[in-house]
Amino acid sequence: MSALLDLFACPACQRRLERDGDALRCTCGSRHPIVRGVPRFVPDDGYVGSFSFEWNTHDTTQLDSKRGDSMTADTLRAKTGLTEADLRGKLVLDAGLGSGRFSEVLAGLGARVIGVDLSLAVEAARKNLGDRDDVIVAQADIGRLPFLRETFDVIVSIGVLHHTPDTRKHFEALVPLLKPGGTIAIWVYPDEGDYQTRNHWIPWTNKLPPRLFYEWCRWFVRVMQKRRGSRLQSLIARLFPYSRQSYGAENDVLDLFDGYSPRYHGIHSPDQVLGWFRDADLIDLWSGPAHTSVRGRKP
Ligand SMILES: C[S@@+](CC[C@H](N)C(=O)[O-])C[C@H]1O[C@@H](n2cnc3c(N)ncnc32)[C@H](O)[C@@H]1O
Ligand SMILES: [Zn+2]
Repeated sequence: MSALLDLFACPACQRRLERDGDALRCTCGSRHPIVRGVPRFVPDDGYVGSFSFEWNTHDTTQLDSKRGDSMTADTLRAKTGLTEADLRGKLVLDAGLGSGRFSEVLAGLGARVIGVDLSLAVEAARKNLGDRDDVIVAQADIGRLPFLRETFDVIVSIGVLHHTPDTRKHFEALVPLLKPGGTIAIWVYPDEGDYQTRNHWIPWTNKLPPRLFYEWCRWFVRVMQKRRGSRLQSLIARLFPYSRQSYGAENDVLDLFDGYSPRYHGIHSPDQVLGWFRDADLIDLWSGPAHTSVRGRKP
């Protein structure tokens, strides 16, 4: 297994963990099993059951290597501004990796990557990223990560922190894990347009059983495709915004489910996000074309 396994530390007492058969063990007594190649630091998937369903149903839909395009690589560049020069040879934390699509791109650009997720998306990510030396996947909570302070050169968290109970608090939990001189880049939902409209629906749609709601999403995308360009379709899209990106119907179904099923759905202004970075003493702030994508450096 990857040497990256040596970087895990006890979430309770911050000592390095030792490999002990199919587990990582701390001298304080805490034990973290490695199940199907994935170290587990949480007993279950907590409040992110919808994502466990989502990423195991759409395990490869957004993977560049499976799609044969650069959808995810382009998104990474647009939302973080990071280039190969920023990543080659660097140790990167992908916080909330989902199916592992950004980890795949980051590793492809020469980074060593640790990807964590609270949900059972880790099963899909592990399958996608395989048993390679430059990537390891772990099931863990961003609010209580199993790493020592100042471990990572780069931390990336795209489309994740607004799905936690407290976006700012979970951002602040990541900053101490950066090395001095390290870079953190996040993107969170903006407090505008479709995201605001969706916020009115979420308290209802996220109560539906995932399988039932998912089947409805499949049906809805099919029907809306047939009515593309009609007045009815544009009216519905205003009242109930849904994905009509150019990445294909499977991606639209995934995106629709993703948009309406999570337990938490925070929306934030660009100034708010920049404020979190400033308050965390991060410098050289960069904000992408999507203004709630912000990057900063630890002095
Ligand atoms: C919309 S998905 C984005 C996944 C990936 N970054 C991408 O863009 O493809 C959000 C992910 O954040 C994860 N997540 C939410 N809260 C988390 C937490 N406290 N700790 C770790 N992962 C979390 C979810 O399980 C889910 O897989
Ligand atoms: Zn310990």
